[in-house]
Amino acid sequence: MKTKLTLLALLVTLVACCEQTNVPTYLNPNAPLEERVEDALSRMTIQEKIDIIHAQSKFSSPGVARLGIPELWCTDGPHGIRPDVLWDEWEQAGCTNDSCVAYPALTALAATWNREASALYGKSIGEEARYREKDVLLGPGVNIYRSPLNGRNFEYMGEDPYLAAQMVVPYVKEVQKNGVATCVKHYALNNQEAHRHTTEPVLDDRALYEIYLPAFKAAVQEGGSWSIMGAYNYFDGEHACHNNRLLNEILKGEWGFDGVVISDWGGTHNTEEAIRNGLDLEFGSWTDGLANGSSNAYDNYYLAAPYQRLIDEGKVGTEELDDKARRVLRLIFRTSMNTQKPFGSLVSEAHIEAARTIGEEGIVLLKNDANTLPIDLSTKPRIAVIGENAIKMMTVGGGSSSLKVAREVSPLDGLREVVGDRAEVCYARGYVGDVTGEYNGVVAAQNLADNRSEQELIREAIQLAKTSDYVVVFGGLNKASHQDCEDSDRFGLGLPYAQDKLIEALADVTDKLIYVNISGNAVAMPWVEKVPAIVQGWFLGSEAGHSLANVLVGNVNPSGKLPFTFPVRLEDCGAHALGEYGGSGKVHYKEGILVGYRWHEAMDIAPLFAFGHGLSYTTFDYSDARLSSKSLREGGKVKVDVTVTNSGSVAGSEIVQIYVGDPECSVMRPEKELKGFQKLYLNAGESKRISIELPWESFCFFDDVAHEWRAEKGDFKIYVAAASDDVRATLDLKLK
Ligand code: BGC
Repeated sequence: MKTKLTLLALLVTLVACCEQTNVPTYLNPNAPLEERVEDALSRMTIQEKIDIIHAQSKFSSPGVARLGIPELWCTDGPHGIRPDVLWDEWEQAGCTNDSCVAYPALTALAATWNREASALYGKSIGEEARYREKDVLLGPGVNIYRSPLNGRNFEYMGEDPYLAAQMVVPYVKEVQKNGVATCVKHYALNNQEAHRHTTEPVLDDRALYEIYLPAFKAAVQEGGSWSIMGAYNYFDGEHACHNNRLLNEILKGEWGFDGVVISDWGGTHNTEEAIRNGLDLEFGSWTDGLANGSSNAYDNYYLAAPYQRLIDEGKVGTEELDDKARRVLRLIFRTSMNTQKPFGSLVSEAHIEAARTIGEEGIVLLKNDANTLPIDLSTKPRIAVIGENAIKMMTVGGGSSSLKVAREVSPLDGLREVVGDRAEVCYARGYVGDVTGEYNGVVAAQNLADNRSEQELIREAIQLAKTSDYVVVFGGLNKASHQDCEDSDRFGLGLPYAQDKLIEALADVTDKLIYVNISGNAVAMPWVEKVPAIVQGWFLGSEAGHSLANVLVGNVNPSGKLPFTFPVRLEDCGAHALGEYGGSGKVHYKEGILVGYRWHEAMDIAPLFAFGHGLSYTTFDYSDARLSSKSLREGGKVKVDVTVTNSGSVAGSEIVQIYVGDPECSVMRPEKELKGFQKLYLNAGESKRISIELPWESFCFFDDVAHEWRAEKGDFKIYVAAASDDVRATLDLKLK
């Protein structure tokens, strides 16, 4: 029997092998990737190569139909899978199978400081993309938070290059396990939305390499992202989407990127530059054809008929075309033609739970005087919930990250559900902000119209507050233009819609005031001293209400820390102090490497809330911090060991942050820079000793004369900290 079975197996293998030999190499999933690419390329005409390097619809590019090579389908990104639009229009395609789970905005993910949360995020959103048969997920975004006015900061991972780099890698890896490519955006220097098509950042190479590029580099080299999206802005006199320096020299040259550079939608402007300067796949161009509808607009794309014309006229060869086609084929084999990929899943219980737990972990407790939080339900309190953001759907709007969700739990509904009959929850509007709620035909099914005056709204809120035990204001920004929204910047740091007046008025009548700030950006808080409890609540997606309620009532102990600084005033931020933000032409990044906390510390400006700050319902003690060695030789690494004890009475998680300072150096260096972190969970009373490794690179700066990373010999400081402004131990290290 056994021999018979073995013979049968042999026969099956033989047949399979014979079949395989008849299969062209490019169709053989077991053949090496590069052989498949070369084989496919060798069978393609010039026209077919040109066809696969530009779009055929709003979100897809063609394959090679003659050869059975499938199309590529893209989707936004980065917080959920965008609903389908029409072939040639931004309006909805009218599908009923394209509702998704909205995950917390990337600022909230960054605030978890938890690499595993990022992996869970990537896994979950990747599965949804795969189920929806998308091949390229347009995200995540890792542009550095340079100013709190940037309307798209909520789609990014904060102000620190190390934190953003660490957090982007697991996201990329896990998405791609689904046979779905990430398209990391917007490469590079897309740090403002105002004039995003014409602005041109001017900065030195230290700022470029030390601040603005590391997260992209990590996404490409460590995460292995299969694609990257060019930015709208200029750099070095050329659009970022076809930019010799950024794409040819740095991305493909220095970093060895073998993936596809995809243009941002409408980010291509010139055929010859696009040919020469590293763009591989053109999307979203606005051509006359599209506007007039007189011909297939896609034939008029810069990398379509105009490319063919240049080849026909002998003005360009086909070497660049082959390189672009090769990259696109590689992407197709990795994604749409990947026979090994799983099937994915959509709106599963696991995805909803992922959205909720990541949201809970990202919420930051900024202030908690007199242990105002968590809300004590044992006395069956009356809770006044106030503010438009308690009821407003936040998953619709904000630009291309807008979603059509299977469900979204508002803060008010979430709180009501979580407290059940253990409290009475009442609501007053408090202010009227943005009553619209529509994006590309997706309509938030709620009517927020309210014609009452500011005074009436505040009066009603005060009445309610006076008769309540707790007052929770859900305020902040929203997804309308000039708030947290693509294609426009905020007008200022202050809260809109007279919210400051409302909060001040409430602070006068209650000492149990809790302010929950819903935003992806820092806001000014002129009333900070009068409000005992302040929470940064972000945009948390489908499960927002549950995540927030669980933290407010203490079902979950908050453990997020800020991924960017909250300045007191706009002028406290480097870009604004130097008057260089928001322009339509050249914008000089005069603050150089001093972005965020690096600026605040160099200028000795106290922030409202510091980078890395975040409280807990328990307390953590740090003890016995030590280095594995007092000195370090070039290329070596050192370990920082520290014991952390939960000295309070509830379990919780702490984020230990390691900063490095180089007090004496031939070039200016920030007072300290984040170079390591670890989040750890501790039961009440529990202690754990952790070890964080600092490789040689942690001590280097970018020498822009020699064009290399370098560390100088001498004394370094290692700071073991709970926040950038809360250093618990300082250790000395000598570099030899
Ligand atoms: C945005 C991108 C987005 C693309 C497609 C552009 O306007 O800048 O982030 O992925 O549109 O929707």
